[in-house]
Amino acid sequence: MVLAVEARNLSIGYLDEDDNLVLVVRNASFSVEEGEVCCLVGESGSGKTTLGNSIAGVLPPYSVTKGLLYLFGKLVVKDELRFYEGVRGRLVSYIPQNPGSSLSPYMRVWDQFWRVMKAHGFTEETAKKKVAEILRLLNLKTEVLDHYPHELSGGMQQRVAIGLSLVTGAKLLVADEPTSSVDAHLKLQLMRLFREIKELYGVTIVLITHDVLLAGKICDKILVMYGGEIVEVSSAKELLENPLHPYTKLLTRVVPVLGYKKKLESIPGEPPRPGQVMEGCVFYERCPVRGDECVKTPPAQEVDGRVVKCWRPLIKESALLS
Ligand SMILES: Nc1ncnc2c1ncn2[C@@H]1O[C@H](COP(=O)(O)OP(=O)(O)OP(=O)(O)O)[C@@H](O)[C@H]1O
Ligand code: SF4
Ligand SMILES: [Mg+2]
Repeated sequence: MVLAVEARNLSIGYLDEDDNLVLVVRNASFSVEEGEVCCLVGESGSGKTTLGNSIAGVLPPYSVTKGLLYLFGKLVVKDELRFYEGVRGRLVSYIPQNPGSSLSPYMRVWDQFWRVMKAHGFTEETAKKKVAEILRLLNLKTEVLDHYPHELSGGMQQRVAIGLSLVTGAKLLVADEPTSSVDAHLKLQLMRLFREIKELYGVTIVLITHDVLLAGKICDKILVMYGGEIVEVSSAKELLENPLHPYTKLLTRVVPVLGYKKKLESIPGEPPRPGQVMEGCVFYERCPVRGDECVKTPPAQEVDGRVVKCWRPLIKESALLS
């Protein structure tokens, strides 16, 4: 089994204006197997983008890293040292949250493809062939190549940005909230596209999303983040059928509405502030089933082949809702 991503006690922070280190990802340990589609889910501010950026090699220079991160066995983070040379764009490709901003407004779509592909050793002929194949997969007509990004719809821009991330042949894609700028009805379609990409090219995909139900539809594995920590790692199926962490249980609550599953309202209370130093469990303040032991930090324990950071993973769901 090849590991596409392996993080060991990875922590990431930013220096604030007084040069204080604010840790926003703490002690993340997880792996993603080659060919898996893995989703990072969690509320706003939980550290999903920061963790995704570390995998994609696009953390800002004023960020600080600790711990180890490997991509396909290659060490890319060793404490404060980072080694993304020859990795970014070649081994891992990044699809940002807002595709419009990643496309140059001054260049036609073809020129944007050609600029990237020329740098990766394509001839014009091989580039055209490859781009035509990718456009077919993305359900885009070749006419888009003659257009400037602003002449395309948001969904088309998004697909062009995905196409650009594919042309270099990277083995790992990191997509940050790829559905945030498209209409609701296009969301699932776009997410399914990632599965097709995986099946066709065998790439490993790390997807970042707020939407745990959507993640469940297309991912193999889900990492649940809360307050900068990974609190549960599980196969998507098991996570949705039987969430173990109280936060995941609350996050996945649904009610059937006219045959659809609708997510329940938000979880009461506020997440921890960035950099807030906490004793004990990170979810303590909002956890409806916390106990005396929860003032101590729970270890990441294995339960039925899944990993959960909670002292009480087997507590009944009904206990949370009462
Ligand atoms: N470039 C940055 N410089 C300083 N602080 C940052 C930076 N990026 C993120 N942060 C802070 O790190 C914390 C985690 O942010 P991050 O964007 O990783 O979370 P997120 O889970 O992706 O949130 P969202 O769902 O809103 O995108 C937040 O408190 C945020 O303010
Ligand atoms: S460790 Fe305790 S406070 Fe934290 S999620 Fe589990 S039960 Fe709740
Ligand atoms: Mg984000």
